[in-house]
Amino acid sequence: MPAVLAIENSSYPRPWSEQQFLQELQASYARINLLFLDSDLAAYLCYWLASGEMNILNVATAPGYRRKGGARKLLEYAFSQAEAMNIESAYLEVRTGNVGAISLYRDFGFNDDCIRRAYYSDGEDALLMSCALKSPFNDGV
Ligand SMILES: CC(C)(COP(=O)(O)OP(=O)(O)OC[C@H]1O[C@@H](n2cnc3c(N)ncnc32)[C@H](O)[C@@H]1OP(=O)(O)O)[C@@H](O)C(=O)NCCC(=O)NCCS
Repeated sequence: MPAVLAIENSSYPRPWSEQQFLQELQASYARINLLFLDSDLAAYLCYWLASGEMNILNVATAPGYRRKGGARKLLEYAFSQAEAMNIESAYLEVRTGNVGAISLYRDFGFNDDCIRRAYYSDGEDALLMSCALKSPFNDGV
């Protein structure tokens, strides 16, 4: 937890608290995957798998490990878990100014759905994105 919180605090203007992470750990539909590099916690991904949907809640990579494929590896793993459960679609929201994260999500096939104006408490807009997953119930992407 201290290593997760250190990354969280260095990644967001309004970071999750320890309590928020503990709440996710207690939810049966929530997962937090950790990626270790050189025995350091390099990145984590929190997401929900429920009701046929994957919701990406939080992904962050330690500043010293960015642009080394960490977030990509975690998302690939999450997509494989979702596809194994026949989950058909994935959703997320991201700050419109977070060009790095938006580029990462577009690489995974996420498309822009809509903008929620002044969604965040500091007034920044949120971009809602979604994508279809490969499953027996749709043609996939
Ligand atoms: C967004 C974030 C999770 C990316 O993590 P990362 O481990 O550095 O990402 P990866 O190395 O797996 O990058 C995969 C691809 O995403 C895109 N990408 C990632 N960071 C980028 C950046 N700063 N600018 C542009 N594209 C970026 C690129 O396409 C990259 O592929 P490439 O390096 O081959 O060009 C990381 O920058 C971070 O922790 N940011 C702060 C927290 C945050 O904003 N999380 C997302 C909230 S919605």
